[in-house]
Amino acid sequence: MQTAEIRRRFLAHFEAAGHTVVPSAPLLLDDPNLLFVNAGMVPFKPYFLGQETPPFHTATSVQKCVRTLDIEEVGKTTRHGTFFQMNGNFSFGDYFKEGAISHAWRLITGNDADGGLGLDADTVWVTVLEGDDESRALWKTIAGLPDERIQTRDKNDNYWHMGVEGPGGPCSEIYIDRGPEHGQDGGPVVDEDRFLEIWNLVFMQEEITNVQSKDTFDVVKPLPKQNIDTGMGLERVAYLLQGKQNMYEIDEVFPVIERAAELSGRRYGADHTDDVRFRVVADHVRSGLMLMGDGVKPGNEARGYVLRRLLRRAVRSMRLLGYEDPALPALLPVSLERMKASYPELEADFPRIEQVAYAEEEAFRQTLGKGTQIFDMAVSDVKDKGGPGLSGEAAFTLHDTYGFPIDLTLEMAAEQGLEVDADGFRSLMAEQRARAKADAKSKKGLHADTSGYRQALDTFGPTDWQAYSALSTESKVQALLSEGLSVPAIASGSVGEVVLDRTPFYAESGGQNADAGTLTWDGGRAEVLDVQRPIKGLVVHQVRVLDGELTLDTTLSADVDHEWRLGARQAHSGTHVVHAALREVLGPTALQAGSYNRPGYLRLDFGWNGGLSAEQLHDVEHVSNRALREDLAVSAQYMTLPEAREWGALALFGETYGEQVRVVEIGGPWSRELCGGTHVERSSQIGTVVVTSDSSVGAGNRRIEALTGIEGFQYLAKERDLVLQLTDLLKAQPGDVPARVQDLLGRLKATEKEVERLKAAQQGDVAGELVKNAADVNGIALVTHRAEGLGGGDVRSLALDLRGRLQGRPAVVVVVGTAGDKAGVVVALDQGAQDRGLSANALVGVIGEHVGGRGGGKADVAQGGGTDVSGIDAAFAAVEHAVRSAG
Ligand code: ALA
Repeated sequence: MQTAEIRRRFLAHFEAAGHTVVPSAPLLLDDPNLLFVNAGMVPFKPYFLGQETPPFHTATSVQKCVRTLDIEEVGKTTRHGTFFQMNGNFSFGDYFKEGAISHAWRLITGNDADGGLGLDADTVWVTVLEGDDESRALWKTIAGLPDERIQTRDKNDNYWHMGVEGPGGPCSEIYIDRGPEHGQDGGPVVDEDRFLEIWNLVFMQEEITNVQSKDTFDVVKPLPKQNIDTGMGLERVAYLLQGKQNMYEIDEVFPVIERAAELSGRRYGADHTDDVRFRVVADHVRSGLMLMGDGVKPGNEARGYVLRRLLRRAVRSMRLLGYEDPALPALLPVSLERMKASYPELEADFPRIEQVAYAEEEAFRQTLGKGTQIFDMAVSDVKDKGGPGLSGEAAFTLHDTYGFPIDLTLEMAAEQGLEVDADGFRSLMAEQRARAKADAKSKKGLHADTSGYRQALDTFGPTDWQAYSALSTESKVQALLSEGLSVPAIASGSVGEVVLDRTPFYAESGGQNADAGTLTWDGGRAEVLDVQRPIKGLVVHQVRVLDGELTLDTTLSADVDHEWRLGARQAHSGTHVVHAALREVLGPTALQAGSYNRPGYLRLDFGWNGGLSAEQLHDVEHVSNRALREDLAVSAQYMTLPEAREWGALALFGETYGEQVRVVEIGGPWSRELCGGTHVERSSQIGTVVVTSDSSVGAGNRRIEALTGIEGFQYLAKERDLVLQLTDLLKAQPGDVPARVQDLLGRLKATEKEVERLKAAQQGDVAGELVKNAADVNGIALVTHRAEGLGGGDVRSLALDLRGRLQGRPAVVVVVGTAGDKAGVVVALDQGAQDRGLSANALVGVIGEHVGGRGGGKADVAQGGGTDVSGIDAAFAAVEHAVRSAG
């Protein structure tokens, strides 16, 4: 049975039982605790926790998931995939254990004609949490399972939670016995390869926090309702029903392995090590495709790094299979072919995805080239010096500076018979991460522990947020926090956090900076430093109290700085305009990857390879300003996500099903984006758009920066001042400035050349003179010369020149260049002087003693420096003495 058919039957089964079919959410949701959606229940979390009212009582979905904790296991076991699809059915206070078990049983054992999966009831085993007699009894009555096929396990296996604070509950897992050829008898507690887990039924009943491990956490409170969350591994069921040995051989994945085999000329199934590589390739290419499809870009932090690692591992595995050419252009389209039936949006988006992927592969190929050289140097260093292997520092540098993945370093070191201090590497990485985290936190200014905010939300409900309609509100202080803890007051001069019942302040989001402004109350005033929404529904103001004391329950006036907000609206609308202009000029693949704006300034990162020509930049600016001049209407409307897509709104990620989304449009379809920001009413109010820079921000991404409103004019005014200064200096008309500067540069170059020539001639003269006057000391020609103002390289070339000119005679040349108190010394000896037992290295040491410095080198040439020019004569005398005493 094809994977798509299993998926269809699953959804149909639950739809027939009254469930609402919910499309998969994107892999990225706006949850600071989660890198990617990693279970079917994630988009429904607020419903389980009772934070939001679900629009349905029961639902079913096939959710895209990514889990990369087990990335090293991919290909080695039969069932670890970094991307997988989770079939789920969910009950929000509707049915509980009995309903979940009977729905599951009917689907897996129901026959073909009834739309079931037709699995043999005799092969089904289940597990329940110890003490959960209710579930055991239900499995007996509903499914007629004998006692021995219902195994009991502890919380480690049969309690499910998200690994972070959130909902959780006991679970019951369903396994299929694949038969004795796959391992030992005795059920899943003995062998999870033979007994394959296909479905997990979670009886979601409590909210937990302080999660340390699978079985160590604190229960906060029972959930408002008893819920059901289930997860069936679509890939696992597929390989079972397709009679395959593992998830990499199913219809959605295997074609990539076949293509990789063709490319590499190696055969899948011939060699275990190669097979693992083939599977890594197939798994990672698919995961990469799905992540890029949802807007992830390769990068060095968090999500981007996961994608980077997946793509690089795929490319490297192809290399280890002996295929050195760019691999993704050959493999990614194969994966697309298999996935587009379930995810048609991938096909429309493929030009952009390809661009991102191929640029990343190209960058990695260069990294490999550079990193390999550094790696070879580090290895030869270890071999020269001895020692067990590469230091953690070397591995870290390779990783950090050259982007060389640690697993690659480990593997290549092993080939050289060397170890790597992986612990040292890890601790350096941990340090770096801690630094990055501290940075990120201090930028946001809010506390990482959200419990104080949660408490405020639970007590007072969501903030009445009026940023779209008001610039001032009369508000009441509901909660005050300091360092994440609730406090009764914030003293004058202190910084703290304020939760108000209502606020006109825009909290930073969607790239728009937070509003600035003040809070004023009877007897006091505070400046608003930052505004964030640390948890959904709650707006938190970070303030500095300027006068008086701010206490709970105070009624105050919350006022957004009008000028600031106007600037913010101009900049945010300007960002949309520049985005639309970019797409008009460069085409639809120039899609925004991130943005930031504050009054007067905007920047926009977008997917694009290579630089923009001056003409393209000019066009982007021109198209933007044309849109301003056309005085286009700017409006915001609410609709469902599917409606917004239908409308062609450019959706970034982070929206969940069921929510109303806000679409901001400028000039009708010209610019339509999902956006929660504050905007001008008509495009002309943006004032102006002045593009100030275009730069690269990593492979496949560029950043365009621009100024809006008065800041744009000020920038232009400054440029005009500059031009005025230049015309003044050059006594030229503005239009003639470039030609004049060009002419001046040409003349300067010619002059410099002439100076060089004269200097060389003069030095030649000096050198001739010095050679002529060389002293004969003990049968050795000795030149000691002090050259005022001569710098490092020139000192050396003069010394070598002199030695050359003294050819034929044993020669010792000492040149000291001075600048202020500093002396630069070069000593050069020819072979004859060295044969007499003299050494440049030793002589530099002698000089160093007199000029207060040190130096070093070889027997023929050595150099050094000093900080005491008053010792130069004594130094020359000491050299002469040494020469006189030579053998
Ligand atoms: N949420 C449960 C899981 O992911 C069903 O296994």
